[in-house]
Amino acid sequence: MKSIIATTITIVFIALSNAALADTASDTIALVKNAKGDCLNCHQIDKKIVGPAWKDVAAKYKGDATAQDTLVAKVIKGGSGHWNDQTGGLPMTPHPVKPSKEEIEKIIASILQL
Ligand code: HEC
Repeated sequence: MKSIIATTITIVFIALSNAALADTASDTIALVKNAKGDCLNCHQIDKKIVGPAWKDVAAKYKGDATAQDTLVAKVIKGGSGHWNDQTGGLPMTPHPVKPSKEEIEKIIASILQL
């Protein structure tokens, strides 16, 4: 029993420190994979595929204090219009259920630190 508690505490600690240190490209990718998000079908860190490169997203919203909340809402609802020059007006699909809002919040926080 003691070892189960110790293991659980260790896992929680690792999970928390991963969230706190999610400031690199590989951490961002790991957050998406752990959340089983479909993001990487359309996004890469430093290259446009269907959607804009996440480094370009970070650059566009640098210094914008509202970006975190706005972008979380955008990923949940989907939509178009901010990257038409790169996408030809193609929309992002909505993500109402998966990843969860908490997971999307972590992914966006990590993207904004790229
Ligand atoms: C089907 C393809 C597709 C998938 C899947 C997808 N995206 Fe997107 N994403 C796009 C497109 C296209 C845009 C550009 C939208 C626009 O022009 O406003 C975009 C834009 C964005 C933006 C910038 C939004 C803005 O308003 O500037 C962020 C951040 C983003 N995506 C994150 C994510 C995350 C996180 C996921 C996974 C949960 C994801 N995307 C999944 C296609 C996709």
